[in-house]
Amino acid sequence: MAFALRQSIYVIVILVAIFAPTSSSLPFVVFHGIGDQCTNKGVAEFTQLLSDWSHSQGYCIEIGNGVWDSWVMPLQDQADVACEKVKELKELSMGYNIVGLSQGNLIGRAVVEFCDGGPPVKNFISLAGPHAGQASVPLCGSGIICVLVDLLLKSEIYTDYVQAHLAPSGYLKIPTDIPDYLEGCKFLPKLNNELPNERNSTYKDRFSSLQNLILIMFEDDTVLIPRETSWFGYYAYGSFNTILPPQQTALYIEDWIGLKTLDDAGRVKYISVGGNHLKISESDMKKHIVPYLVEKPDMTISNSMYK
Ligand SMILES: *[C@@H]1O[C@H](CO)[C@@H](O)[C@H](O)[C@H]1NC(C)=O
Repeated sequence: MAFALRQSIYVIVILVAIFAPTSSSLPFVVFHGIGDQCTNKGVAEFTQLLSDWSHSQGYCIEIGNGVWDSWVMPLQDQADVACEKVKELKELSMGYNIVGLSQGNLIGRAVVEFCDGGPPVKNFISLAGPHAGQASVPLCGSGIICVLVDLLLKSEIYTDYVQAHLAPSGYLKIPTDIPDYLEGCKFLPKLNNELPNERNSTYKDRFSSLQNLILIMFEDDTVLIPRETSWFGYYAYGSFNTILPPQQTALYIEDWIGLKTLDDAGRVKYISVGGNHLKISESDMKKHIVPYLVEKPDMTISNSMYK
């Protein structure tokens, strides 16, 4: 009896050693949202908790000086900085996962789609990403006044000056002003392959090669307008009343960036959690994020030995 017990303990110890995550698990990278920075307590703790629970190394990647640049550096420039940083981080060279927070999701997605020579991205976990655009100034809220102010601003936001000096202007998409958006907005139309004559199949190939795309929407999100943008849903063009689910948007139906390809392959998870913008609970983090940060043993390697 004692002998058998000791034997099974040995077996367990050996198994733990083989499957210990420290050496085999992929690292992950966090891109924070607007008005935030990696040294802030919230995002630092978030990264640390995910690291602790998944036993994988997490890196919060800073762009420029943090808070200020997150507001004023055009998103394409932010994405270029991020691309250089993921290439410099040797630990990512075998592949990594991305966790995006709000605006940081667009930087993360730009890294996936645009970053030539970057290390491969496996799983993309998006929390409250304005993927299909944002119809109101971020952090302004959802009140009718915000919407009106934004409508007044709409003639200005697509000017070259605003596009070059205010990061969120790169994804402000006023549903009643789509022609100006397509013409003047410098970032999201490119990221979403929205311009008919400028679609680049490389962006689609890269995005659709993700293993898993986890789109987390917050049920009480008052920052993202509409909150369904977290799932690539958006207002029907010309309307502030009708919100289309992702599957009814042209981006999806015509598969401009490979979202439909990923979805058809069962690799997109549309998750809805309680709470306001980014206010995710620890149990939802464990349920919806951590499983995608834990590298499972790669069965393709053992299978290939028998081929
Ligand atoms: C599409 O994007 C890739 C990757 O950035 C780039 O190398 C290529 O030149 C682009 N193609 C066109 C037609 O712009």
